[in-house]
Amino acid sequence: MKKTILAIETSCDETGIALVDASGGFSNPKFKVIKNLVSSQIKIHRPFGGVVPGLAKREHIRNLPLLFKSIFRKSDFLNIDLIAVTVGPGLEPALWTGITFAQELAKKYKKPLIGANHLEGHLYSFLLSQKTASSKLKVRSSPPKVDPPRAEKLLFPAVVLSVSGGHTVLLLMKNLKAWKRLGETKDDAAGEAFDKVARMLNLPYPGGPEIEKLALRQAQGKHPKGTIDFPRPMLNQKNYDFSFSGLKTSVFYYSRDIEAKKREKNIREISQNVSRKLASKADIAASFQQAVIDVLVAKTMRAARDYGARSIILCGGVAANKSLRKMLKTKCYMSHLIFHVPLMEYNNDNAAMIAAAAYMGLSRKKKYKLEANGDLNI
Ligand code: KG4
Ligand code: ZN
Repeated sequence: MKKTILAIETSCDETGIALVDASGGFSNPKFKVIKNLVSSQIKIHRPFGGVVPGLAKREHIRNLPLLFKSIFRKSDFLNIDLIAVTVGPGLEPALWTGITFAQELAKKYKKPLIGANHLEGHLYSFLLSQKTASSKLKVRSSPPKVDPPRAEKLLFPAVVLSVSGGHTVLLLMKNLKAWKRLGETKDDAAGEAFDKVARMLNLPYPGGPEIEKLALRQAQGKHPKGTIDFPRPMLNQKNYDFSFSGLKTSVFYYSRDIEAKKREKNIREISQNVSRKLASKADIAASFQQAVIDVLVAKTMRAARDYGARSIILCGGVAANKSLRKMLKTKCYMSHLIFHVPLMEYNNDNAAMIAAAAYMGLSRKKKYKLEANGDLNI
């Protein structure tokens, strides 16, 4: 079953359009990314410290035709078999802009249109391993390159750790089209915790990459993983759920106390002429990041052991974190498990992964209503 898919993603603050050749059915899926453009709204939301739904909607409405015009000629539509669009989860006003745009295209060019689940997009994003095109528009896309084909075999059962700004979920996959949820976060998603902690440290949105940058700075020193023993919530509970809000609160109190101590220290140093080192921002960032990674990795490996998994799949925006990738990869290696992770450009939201989700959805005969569903789960 070969399909050329035009995919559209507008669930949050990235406007994405992609063109993907999919083949092989669900037993041997292959995705060749022909075009994959992402226009990021980060700069627009940054002053607000997070995504503003109304602004996201406005920007998607502005960006969709621009991205579309920049990469598609009318004749491209002769080759397109279907259009896919994200229907959820995400911000409903933002989702609707993509759905409406896709409906207009489908009508104009007389193409079938199907809805796709954003989380299934992340789930299948490790299967995307081909060329991407650059664009004249200012888009968040790495330079064109040909990526090596996926070397490792897909072995099941597989445990999936999907970690993004909106979700943190562990899945058990029997095969590429059948899975069950083992656990999920009870409060904040891992990416959300990164974003909130970054805000406490006066770092810009999105916080994940900023925390990682600071943690990398700390990693060059004597205490690469940080010196602060933040809690590892739910680590020892025999379930596969997560919780990050307590950890976030610990960081808040710690940073607040440090600030107070710094003020006190300054006063004392001036009067007594002494100098004592207090934890730096980089130390806090590295210690926090390590606490999150320890919990994510321990729970994933426990699930893999309990269910006799043969592979582990890491995905979602937080999967861009190099320390997380490295630690999970090492653990997989030590446990003789195959490790799958998307190429860097497919971790954060993009439309190529939506094409993959749509294609796999066809194989699974899964249909989503063409309406925004902010709370859609996997
Ligand atoms: O998947 P994604 O692009 O959007 C959602 O579906 O939520 O994930 C975005 C999240 C944000 O919370 C962002 O801070 C986090 O992924 N993130 C990271 C890194 N890059 C992005 N978290 C930790 N380390 C990173 N390098
Ligand atoms: Zn996402």
